[in-house]
Amino acid sequence: MKQEEAKLKIQEFVKQLNQWNLEYYENDNPSVDDAEYDLLLRDLRELESQFPELVTKDSPTQKVSGFVASKFEKYEHREPMLSLGNAFNKEDLQDFDQQIFKANGNRNYKFFAELKIDGLSISLIYKNQKLFKAVTRGDGLVGEDVTANVKMIKEIPHEIKSEEEYVEVRGEIYLSKAEFNKINQKKAQANEPLFANPRNAAAGTLRQLDSRVVKERNLQAFLYFYMNRDSKDILTHQDSLKLIKDLQLPVNGEGKICDSIDEVWDYIEKYSAVRDQLPYEIDGIVIKVNEFETYEKIGYTSKTPKWAIAFKFPAEIKTTKLLSIFPTIGRTGRVTYNAQLEPVQIAGTTVRAATLHNADFIMNRDIRIQANVKIKKAGDIIPEVISAIKDTEFEKLLVWEPSTNCPDCNSLLEKISGEVDQYCINTNCPKKIIRSLQHFASRDAMNIEGLSIKILEKLYSEQIIKDVADIFKIADKKEVILNLENFGEKSFLNLITAIEKSKSNSSERLLFGLGIRHVGKKTAKVLIKNYKTIANLMTIGFEELSQIYDIGNVVAKSLIDWFNIMENKNLINKLVTLGINMDYKNDSSNSSDIFRDKIIVITGTLSKSRNYFRELLENNGARVTDSVSGKTDFLLAGEDAGSKLVKAKNLAVKIISEDDLKSMMEEK
Ligand code: IVH
Repeated sequence: MKQEEAKLKIQEFVKQLNQWNLEYYENDNPSVDDAEYDLLLRDLRELESQFPELVTKDSPTQKVSGFVASKFEKYEHREPMLSLGNAFNKEDLQDFDQQIFKANGNRNYKFFAELKIDGLSISLIYKNQKLFKAVTRGDGLVGEDVTANVKMIKEIPHEIKSEEEYVEVRGEIYLSKAEFNKINQKKAQANEPLFANPRNAAAGTLRQLDSRVVKERNLQAFLYFYMNRDSKDILTHQDSLKLIKDLQLPVNGEGKICDSIDEVWDYIEKYSAVRDQLPYEIDGIVIKVNEFETYEKIGYTSKTPKWAIAFKFPAEIKTTKLLSIFPTIGRTGRVTYNAQLEPVQIAGTTVRAATLHNADFIMNRDIRIQANVKIKKAGDIIPEVISAIKDTEFEKLLVWEPSTNCPDCNSLLEKISGEVDQYCINTNCPKKIIRSLQHFASRDAMNIEGLSIKILEKLYSEQIIKDVADIFKIADKKEVILNLENFGEKSFLNLITAIEKSKSNSSERLLFGLGIRHVGKKTAKVLIKNYKTIANLMTIGFEELSQIYDIGNVVAKSLIDWFNIMENKNLINKLVTLGINMDYKNDSSNSSDIFRDKIIVITGTLSKSRNYFRELLENNGARVTDSVSGKTDFLLAGEDAGSKLVKAKNLAVKIISEDDLKSMMEEK
């Protein structure tokens, strides 16, 4: 196809797909089915990969989603979303009962025991019968508006039959074990990192920017909390569940009235035993007082109701044989030891490997190869070896000794003073380089889709990519790459498009991607927000850097050391020449330049967290630092401001209140 013809076709496809997106996301009234949409989208992708220069910004392939906001809006809960206190044994439950008895004054109450679903809490708001908002818990006061994604959950009706104008129901969004396995299988095939557990997968899915992915993944929900209890003729939790069910919202059917803590305990024992057989994960049992009239009397703490409690299942511990201990090298050269295990079932999954952390961990516990070991899988975390069982066989086993050489490049491992870990300090260690490249391309860094570890290993071993700058040169190596196993024209073009796109990232992604010690994702953002470009950052001295709010001496030193190395300076220069953006691109909607170059210190108690004000000020151009000096332009002072206020007064630094800040921002 000629370019002119392709251009017209691309324009036509983009227009059509955007129209369908509008119908689908905005009007909830699609005129074509998903299959037809997908077909056209595939055609568009195909064309765009043949003519990457014709990809336009408004193409649905370039937008993270159809019409879902690229960032989730904040939404303030009408009533805070509380969490629950925990119980770990029967005594804790008896104490819980005792307190209720005391507060209530009599025993005229029952318990309702139900499963604690291991998912994410959600609040559904229906206005005039229509699903108006679906909001995550967030910090309990303000959550994120994930309505577009929740609308993709088949079980959640977009309309309910209710006489109430405003109906709010809270519950849990979750992924079934089967669905979770399916997603991870797909991810494994695509060489993508796997989700650790169904809850993480559900969270990742709910925060997906592309609602179509959400639709594919079959999230589910159980609702368990009806908010407008006063306006209805419902007296108990059990009544409210029935009402939620009558609204056609999904309710978990395993809940049960219990007359006493003994009965609650029977319920707990029953579900601890059958937990593995349930189609979804649970991490405990929630026990609620059934009668609403008692709730006010029993009361609340600042974060939790006193009329409910969560019994948490203990982490499951199993015994198995440790077959071997093998070290792996991370991008910083740090050695992590892992155990290969005789496969064992824990909490519904087969565990074949577990972490042993570092050499000290193994030696302190005297863990030996071929020993029987106890393994723990606490909820989501990677399984961990807890200890070796010192049985009669154990004494016959050899005491384990740490590796002395890097398993990949064989150079001597070293211990950095004051740290427990061993490091491979060879800057040319292939594993370290490949892991650094992987980090550079990862989602939180440059976000180059398609540059998986497998491909990086291949391109590195072929010496096509030797450092991160080489990534931006692979367009010239088309012939060589296409000759590599499993590399088609299409994947090559997709990769080139992703690499090209990453060049214009806001530069905190680049800074994070460089893998400088102690410069994590958040720190990189703070630095770039403060100094606007990497070039500026390279000129700043230790004193000034360490003054930045959240940037301590360790980060400042690490950063300065890194920029002082000639090879690193050269790398930055190479990246500039290759057209990689070095500047901060503000993606915040409430941003401006009004405090550009102003140095501001925050002190005292404000109406919101200091982090909130820091972000706000930084988004508006300020540099927020830790201590007041002659260079400080403003001190934002809340209640009970102490020594910083005194110092600011002495140095005649302008002191502003929250209200002053508000009016300064409004004025501009
Ligand atoms: S009731 C005010 N019931 O557990 C009471 N919570 O640790 C609100 N959860 O944030 C919660 N299953 O996300 C309740 N059957 C259930 C639950 C449940 C899971 C979650 C929920 C809550 C957390 C508290």
